[in-house]
Amino acid sequence: MRIIKTKNYDEMSRKAANIFFSQIVFKENSVLGLATGSSVLGLYNNLIDGFKIGDLDFSNVITVNLDEYVGLDSENDQSYRYYMNKNLFDHINIKKENTHLPDGLAEDAEAECAKYNKMIEDFGGIDIQLLGLGHNGHIGFNEPDETFIKETHVVTLDESTIKANSRFFADEKDVPRKAMTMGIQNIMQAKKIILCVSGEQKREILKKVMFGEITPKIPGSILQLHPDLTVVADEDALGGAEKFI
Ligand code: GLP
Repeated sequence: MRIIKTKNYDEMSRKAANIFFSQIVFKENSVLGLATGSSVLGLYNNLIDGFKIGDLDFSNVITVNLDEYVGLDSENDQSYRYYMNKNLFDHINIKKENTHLPDGLAEDAEAECAKYNKMIEDFGGIDIQLLGLGHNGHIGFNEPDETFIKETHVVTLDESTIKANSRFFADEKDVPRKAMTMGIQNIMQAKKIILCVSGEQKREILKKVMFGEITPKIPGSILQLHPDLTVVADEDALGGAEKFI
């Protein structure tokens, strides 16, 4: 595990973006595993700036996102497809057909998940996977569970996740109860993983994820076993935990 400790959110975003810069420069047809949420927003802004000043070319880049809510269409401003278009894809020269998220409106969600797994496999896997961290230790929407679920699957969201994500919705009851998410194996098979964590409210869970017991009850803890994990986190989130290493 490599730890990049930053002073604040902006520095975290810039330093994590630097890793993506070099990935795209070294491999122009990289398969990027992308995430949503507030932790990765600053990184996306840096990628957009990199494109605007001519340092980054996304014309051959492929993206696969971690997850999507079940039941929200791409025009719904709370869907992850909408988030990705608004916060990244609409501002860079990526081909929309090269950007992938599970289809939240698929009639057969299980079949959609199987299709998603096959697609990732056909791309030859993910070169670099970006992750945020849920307050309960979830990655993507892999919620605390009795076992690790390997592949893309339909998940019933935790009450704590519904609460945490309700800040983006008009009302808590509007938050979808189900989502589709890449599984732990999909994530762990990525060649590199970048985990971005910011803020004191994530300090406890980040410490458990990085140094605690490896257990499906804290899904992110499995990342300790990844051969190329980089945690990019600010001082508030690390709170001295990096000294454990
Ligand atoms: C959502 C997403 C996760 C994300 C998490 C943390 O639940 N499904 O992929 O990591 O939120 O979000 P934030 O970065 O806003 O704290």
